[in-house]
Amino acid sequence: MLKILTVIGARPQIIKAAAISRAISNHFNKTVNEIILHTGQHYDENMSDVFFKEMGVPQPAYNLNIGSGMHGKQTAQMISGIEEIIVKEKPSCIVIYGDTNSTLAGALAGSKLHIPVVHIEAGMRSFNKQMPEEINRVLADHVSTLLFTSTKTGWQNLMKEGFKSDNTPPWSVSNPNVFLCGDIMFDNSLYFADLAVKKESFLKKNRLEPRKYILVTIHRDFNTDDPIRLNNLFSAFDEISSSENIVFAIPLHPRTKKLLPVNLMPGLFKKVSRCENIRFLPPASYLEMIALEKNSRMIMTDSGGVQKEAFFFKKPCITLRPETEWVELVENGNNIIADDDIEKIAGAFRYFSGGPVITYPPFYGNGKTAEFIIEEVIKNL
Ligand code: UD1
Ligand code: UDP
Repeated sequence: MLKILTVIGARPQIIKAAAISRAISNHFNKTVNEIILHTGQHYDENMSDVFFKEMGVPQPAYNLNIGSGMHGKQTAQMISGIEEIIVKEKPSCIVIYGDTNSTLAGALAGSKLHIPVVHIEAGMRSFNKQMPEEINRVLADHVSTLLFTSTKTGWQNLMKEGFKSDNTPPWSVSNPNVFLCGDIMFDNSLYFADLAVKKESFLKKNRLEPRKYILVTIHRDFNTDDPIRLNNLFSAFDEISSSENIVFAIPLHPRTKKLLPVNLMPGLFKKVSRCENIRFLPPASYLEMIALEKNSRMIMTDSGGVQKEAFFFKKPCITLRPETEWVELVENGNNIIADDDIEKIAGAFRYFSGGPVITYPPFYGNGKTAEFIIEEVIKNL
């Protein structure tokens, strides 16, 4: 029996873990025993528990309850807690997702104890080391034994960093194996899309009519913590919502909720708080979020996952960052990088409102990526 220790902590990791846990329980429950460790990086009901309940993720066997804090302290406490559990459980491997501090902590704790690390969503790069996530991704990849990349670009990024496609087993941290496999978030979007129809009453409750609103999410530190950027973004939303009479639906990450009153100019804060066309919502559950995405006219976001979901649900996306890891979406015309530039955001809005022809090639696999990953983990470890 392969014993997998899955390390999760932040909202998108609980969501990603749903795909792998579902694959294990549907197809591999006789060969794989998954133990889930939650670092507690996200802890509000609507940032954590709701995803376990709604998406059928097994309850974590361990919760370190680390909570929020400076990067160093938070990551160090996670490493220390994960290490103790590795020593106790002696897993066959550690599974980590994406690029958060919980990812890095799992990677360091596992690799130092010579437990093979399996990195899902490996190889993604923004080439912007000001982002904590970029540091986390690069470091996690370079101590992993099995690396599963979502896109061709991810795979190529790793090859450019010295990973090899002609390594042969046995695999180890010094002789890793890189797979191109598709994206488990695509698996989830297919699995949950129909269930999300039930949540359409949530739209009515918030007076959101199909195709009459733009869905916005913002949570990156460089947007929330920088008053100039945050003011630019909200000035753009304010301008577009009033000149085009379109609603902005904004489920607020707790970080953004805390910083809006601090970093927006008082006049702009008052204006957007009272504006009928700007609707702040609490963080949405996954099914509510899918309902919001599917029924939106377009999406503006600085999230990694939401850029991909815009594509899965065939919605144009405007990215509120200077760059993206999901470059195929920009090259194919599904996504425009507008950063915090008010003119570019308005221009991208007008362009997409004109209804350009947009295609949706199969960039993210066949919807069975989670099964592929578990099969390969069993074969290769
Ligand atoms: C983290 C990840 C980011 C990911 C995002 C997903 C890192 C460095 N960042 O960013 O890559 O895109 O999660 O959402 O790992 N807070 C609460 N309640 C919660 C969680 C957070 O109030 O349940 C507030 C706290 O004030 C906290 C702040 O949000 O200080 C930031 O949380 P943190 O986990 O440090 O980073 P995120 O911005 O959520
Ligand atoms: N998400 C959600 N509720 C929200 C905002 C996002 O369920 O209010 C989901 C979203 O659908 C996607 C994932 O969270 O599946 C993306 O996570 P997030 O934007 O927090 O982080 P990132 O992907 O940027 O790391």
